[in-house]
Amino acid sequence: MSARILDGRVIGKAIRNRTRLEVDDLVRITGVVPGLAVILIGDDPASRIYVANKIRACTDVGIRSSMIEYPKDVPADTLIDAIERLNDDPATHGILVQLPLPPHHDVRAVLHAISVEKDVDGFHLYNVGGLVVGDTIFSPCTPFGVMNILDHARIPIEGRNVTIVGASNIVGKPMALMMMRRDATVAVCHAKTRDLAQYTILADILVVAAGVPNLILPQMVRTGAVVIDVGINRLPDGRLVGDVDFEGVSRKASCITPVPGGVGPMTVTMLLVNTMSAARRFVERTRGPILTPVHPQDITQLA
Ligand code: GUN
Repeated sequence: MSARILDGRVIGKAIRNRTRLEVDDLVRITGVVPGLAVILIGDDPASRIYVANKIRACTDVGIRSSMIEYPKDVPADTLIDAIERLNDDPATHGILVQLPLPPHHDVRAVLHAISVEKDVDGFHLYNVGGLVVGDTIFSPCTPFGVMNILDHARIPIEGRNVTIVGASNIVGKPMALMMMRRDATVAVCHAKTRDLAQYTILADILVVAAGVPNLILPQMVRTGAVVIDVGINRLPDGRLVGDVDFEGVSRKASCITPVPGGVGPMTVTMLLVNTMSAARRFVERTRGPILTPVHPQDITQLA
């Protein structure tokens, strides 16, 4: 068997095309241009690239973006003051602090300073709690992107065995909650899990976000499984690879995401979706309901 490739660039493009239409409608009807503020602290080269991609993607769909940079030793007060100013700024609808922060910063204090209504990363406690009980405002972009890939490919989730490898706050834990909301049976594995293969082999849908190249080998995957590789690892020879042995596993899986070009582009796309949604919510909160044209395609049926 050779797996069907789930192409995040194609799916992401379709969703971005729709988001562009929604941004155009909002601007035309209300005069409000969705705005995203991105805060980058320190000089991590990978973070700089991710932020540049996010800013470029905003421009592409008509979202206004701004970047605020601080040195790695910026005092906590300066950071919190900046976030509070952005919370009060009516032209800023989404705020994102790029992670990871340099080690001595209190990540929770920084993330929780962001207004819930502007938390387009979905990292605030309210939004995390909302994932548990089912009324979150913004879902974290990477797992939200994974759900969109599966829905777009019409892969059923209800009743499926889903194994998630990696239990981070950004990917693994919210992914588990989103899958549970869709009535999957979920196992979450992590660095201390004994005999990982015992869990991965059960998976109808395997989501891997461990940051370890070649962690998932063909013998760990059930024939016909759907494999979603969230890992992005730079090898010493410069190649970018995921956490899954792509060549081997794609001979056994029914569907697989590539790296690069799988989940990565979807993460940025979902940030655009969340920012557009934040801007719309802002207008509705301050001025009442907006009547925008309904675009015929369902977001999950594009491309
Ligand atoms: N670092 C890695 N992924 C993310 C993300 O989704 N959001 C932010 N803010 N930082 C990240």
